[in-house]
Amino acid sequence: MRGKKISIIGAGNVGSTVAYSLATQGIVHEIILLDSKPDVAWGKALDMSQAAAVIRAHTIVRVAEGYADIADSDIVIVAAGAARKPGMSRDDLLFINAEAIRGICEQVKRYCVNSFVIMITNPLDAMTYVALKETGFNKRQVIGMAGLLDSGRMASFIYEKLGYGSGQIRATVLGGHGDNMVPLHRYSTVAGVPITDLLSREEIDEIVRRTKNAGAEIVGYLKSGSAYYAPALATSMMCEAILRDAKQIYPCAVLLEGEYGYSDIVTGAPIVLGANGVEKVIEVTLNDEEKAEFKRSVQSVDKLLGKLEEKGFYAR
Ligand code: 2OP
Repeated sequence: MRGKKISIIGAGNVGSTVAYSLATQGIVHEIILLDSKPDVAWGKALDMSQAAAVIRAHTIVRVAEGYADIADSDIVIVAAGAARKPGMSRDDLLFINAEAIRGICEQVKRYCVNSFVIMITNPLDAMTYVALKETGFNKRQVIGMAGLLDSGRMASFIYEKLGYGSGQIRATVLGGHGDNMVPLHRYSTVAGVPITDLLSREEIDEIVRRTKNAGAEIVGYLKSGSAYYAPALATSMMCEAILRDAKQIYPCAVLLEGEYGYSDIVTGAPIVLGANGVEKVIEVTLNDEEKAEFKRSVQSVDKLLGKLEEKGFYAR
């Protein structure tokens, strides 16, 4: 059986941290980095292969000379594109990154027709939609990373507030990876105990606010570039679920086809992730307030897709 191969397009902070995480987990044999600055990428690749050897893992990290080197990857991770600067929203990156994703997808379609594609580039839900359209791949194959990240962030804020329960917290965030994401406190628990039994309404509201703003909070400190440790680990967990056929329920950005009453839109929902990619989209029962928030979130993704359509990206 041939070893597993993952290619990462864009070896900036996020892409290279995904590679590092995968290289030190021993779940892939080969990681290919493709970047517009190959020398810097080679420096990182050698360092990571050596890190894998230090911990006696078998992963080799290499740099692609061109797209032909990503051929037959089990998974292609797209982390290329501009990151936001302080004061920018993820949506401000729409046109510049859509153009980049279009070019990348043309090559992915050519060399990796059977691969899974994990999207990280922002604005995430819109870029995942662009990738679906541009590759023509089926909805099982193209998955956006964000729900795991947003849920992890919410869990960390719950832990900060409580001061106990770390590792036992399960937070749930639905909807798009944008300012209108939907942190669901009713579905967030600590060792199975609903957080509504542990925290006041004001404390929960603050957790929700901070979760929605978590990416911007980090951008504000970093000044240039955005978060990468948590986004990278969320991505490598998704890779692991696919490669090990773990069939985990993870919130991810996927194409909806009737679920939650929406179609032809990408947004975050819990899915079963396994060897077949998106094996099932799970529909969580929402109350009226949650439904309204989910609608707002879907509408903001829809608005971005409308702008792309106006610019002639594709017809919906
Ligand atoms: C974040 O939320 C960059 O979207 C990414 O940090």
